[in-house]
Amino acid sequence: MDIKRIFLIGFMGSGKTTLGRNLANSMKWRFIDLDHYVEQKAGISVSDIFVTRGESEFRELERNALGELLMLENVVVSTGGGTPCFFDNLERMNQSGLTIYLKLPAEVLKVRLEHGKLSRPLVAQKSAIELLHYIKEKLAERSVYYEKSMIVADAEVLSTEDYLAIIKTTQLLG
Ligand code: S3P
Repeated sequence: MDIKRIFLIGFMGSGKTTLGRNLANSMKWRFIDLDHYVEQKAGISVSDIFVTRGESEFRELERNALGELLMLENVVVSTGGGTPCFFDNLERMNQSGLTIYLKLPAEVLKVRLEHGKLSRPLVAQKSAIELLHYIKEKLAERSVYYEKSMIVADAEVLSTEDYLAIIKTTQLLG
C-alpha cells in the first residue's frame, strides 16, 4: 500500500497528538493536529467555537478542514475524538490514507482526561463520576465508527516504534 497520509483516530485523551508528533518526527513527515488546524482557520479556539457557534457548526468546520488535509501528502494527522463519527469523514480518511484507532478502555481514558479536560468543551464541566459515565456512554456509541479504522491498535501497550513497525508492514504488504 502506498501510504501518503496517516490519520490517528480515537477518543479524547487517547494520545493521538503525542503519537502523531512522534510518528511525524520519525518519518520526517509533517504533523497536523486537526483541532489546531480548525482553530487557525477560524481564528478562535475549539472551546470558543462550541460556546459561540455550537457543536454543529464546529462539525462543519472540522469536516471542511479535514477535506483540505486529504489533499496533502506525507502528513500525519491527529483527528478530534468526534471526527470519524460525523458525515462521511471516516470513509474519506479510509480512502485516502491509513487510519489507526488508538484503542483504550474507558477507565484509562478517564484518568487521562481528568488532567486535560478543561480545554475540551464536551467534558470541561464534568465531575469525576460524570466523566466516567460520559466516557462509557460515548465510547460505546463511537466505537462503531472507531473500529472501522484500518488498524485497531492496543494503545495501552504499543510504543511509537511498534506503530512505526505496523506502518512499515502495512506499506510492504498492501
Ligand atoms: C471532541 C474532541 C476534541 C475536539 C472537540 C470535540 C469530541 O478533540 O475535537 O473538543 O467530540 O470528542 P481531542 O480528541 O483531540 O480532544
